[in-house]
Amino acid sequence: MRNIIRLLGMVFVLMVLTNCGKSLGEYNAKDYEGLSSVDAGKKVYHKTNCSNCHSIDGSDKVGGALKGIYLTMVSFEGGTASKRDVNYLKDSILNPQNKIVKGRPNVMTSYKDVFKGREQELDYLIDYIKSLK
Ligand code: HEC
Repeated sequence: MRNIIRLLGMVFVLMVLTNCGKSLGEYNAKDYEGLSSVDAGKKVYHKTNCSNCHSIDGSDKVGGALKGIYLTMVSFEGGTASKRDVNYLKDSILNPQNKIVKGRPNVMTSYKDVFKGREQELDYLIDYIKSLK
């Protein structure tokens, strides 16, 4: 019996650990009260652990730098290219498998579930990325 309880405890801890990288927790508009959309987006950026794979200071990481990319061109595996506009940025976050940045590994997982019903936070995040100049 004790072993089962211990096992359940371990499973619970594992579930929390594997989820904590991404979960935004309960949505609470108060979390962003009084913040500019850019500052709110910075909060979202850190809560969703984008910084594990992307830098904001221009340095390289597995996912590439996010600084200064807004409205620049990007090439994809397979030979197509796109301008990094708002639609592209959103699609890169919600459907990262759609277009793989040339020379980068296909390791980013979709944030569709994370931002389900939380478009406001996604918009803040986009405003933050746009502000990184
Ligand atoms: C596990 C690492 C990882 C995490 C976490 C991650 N990404 Fe990515 N991301 C990547 C990689 C690798 C690429 C390039 C490959 C591709 O296109 O999918 C990428 C591509 C992107 C692109 C397109 C980059 C370009 O140069 O045009 C954007 C924008 C982006 N990610 C934003 C985000 C945001 C915002 C978050 C947090 C919500 C995030 N990523 C979380 C790894 C990650």
